[in-house]
Amino acid sequence: MPAIEIHNLTKVFTGKKRASLVALQELDLSIEKGEVFGFLGPNGAGKSTTINILTGQLRATSGAARIFGISVASPSARTNIGYLPENPAFYHFMTAREYLRFVGRTFRMSPQEIDRETERVLTLLDLTAAADRPIKGFSKGMTQRLGLAQALVHGPDLYILDEPMSGLDPIGRALAKDIIVSLKKEGKTVFFSTHITADVEAVCDRVGIIVKGQLRALDEVENIMRGTESYLLEIRSPHGDLERKIVGKEQLSTIILQAIRQESTIERIEPKRKSLEKFFLETVNNSDATSGPAL
Ligand SMILES: Nc1ncnc2c1ncn2[C@@H]1O[C@H](COP(=O)(O)OP(=O)(O)OP(=O)(O)O)[C@@H](O)[C@H]1O
Ligand SMILES: [Mg+2]
Repeated sequence: MPAIEIHNLTKVFTGKKRASLVALQELDLSIEKGEVFGFLGPNGAGKSTTINILTGQLRATSGAARIFGISVASPSARTNIGYLPENPAFYHFMTAREYLRFVGRTFRMSPQEIDRETERVLTLLDLTAAADRPIKGFSKGMTQRLGLAQALVHGPDLYILDEPMSGLDPIGRALAKDIIVSLKKEGKTVFFSTHITADVEAVCDRVGIIVKGQLRALDEVENIMRGTESYLLEIRSPHGDLERKIVGKEQLSTIILQAIRQESTIERIEPKRKSLEKFFLETVNNSDATSGPAL
């Protein structure tokens, strides 16, 4: 049984005075247990809409979604999810420690588990020093760290994170990536949205690219990046000048032969892997501009 199943999911936002907007169009997606999945898409593509349906905050116009086999319409589907919202917000009068303990109680953890796990996630997210300060004084990055901490505290099997690296400094971003990698090692499933391709390259098994409410690409990250796209060449002329250039596959043999004929020395041939960023930009640009919602 997959961790997440999405079948033919469509979401149309309708307003009394506005034209209706198709935010998701017949989305099909299945995420296996133990997988780290990156949900990539430009602003307004439908990432948060999908996540809001998966977490029961929005109702789909048509189609179905299940978490570990349970329909998202059922509150029980949410008991095994750690969820980080796009813009996490908390009770301002609470401290971080109080809030995490409150989350633990909400998920019916035992008092011992609450003690242990609250301290564990505070340490993990480097929030111990701020743990007893009211949340209203938290910076954006600290709020994001608390958002991650509350998603982790009850130890669910599935993590749905809406832009987990958003607002974090480089140390926080590296930490968030490490957390995702260690969740995978524990056999947990992670589904996260982002528009940062480097983060997907670093931690994801598979990536889905959504553009204007439609899934435009779905593949293993390794597959996308496997191909060699170009080569970095360093050629030293007989006079000692070093020329460095990037050449496409098709030009490589011609340039090497030419260099040999000119009695130049080839000092370096370095294959350049395809980048996910380029693939992402191509996918977005190739998408039919006339279909899907206006932003
Ligand atoms: N409650 C709403 N009412 C009307 N339209 C909405 C609502 N929520 C989202 N939309 C629209 O649905 C589309 C998808 O929005 P969504 O928030 O899912 O995008 P996203 O991929 O998460 O973008 P971002 O990267 O900016 O977070 C957008 O056109 C947005 O304006
Ligand atoms: Mg969003």
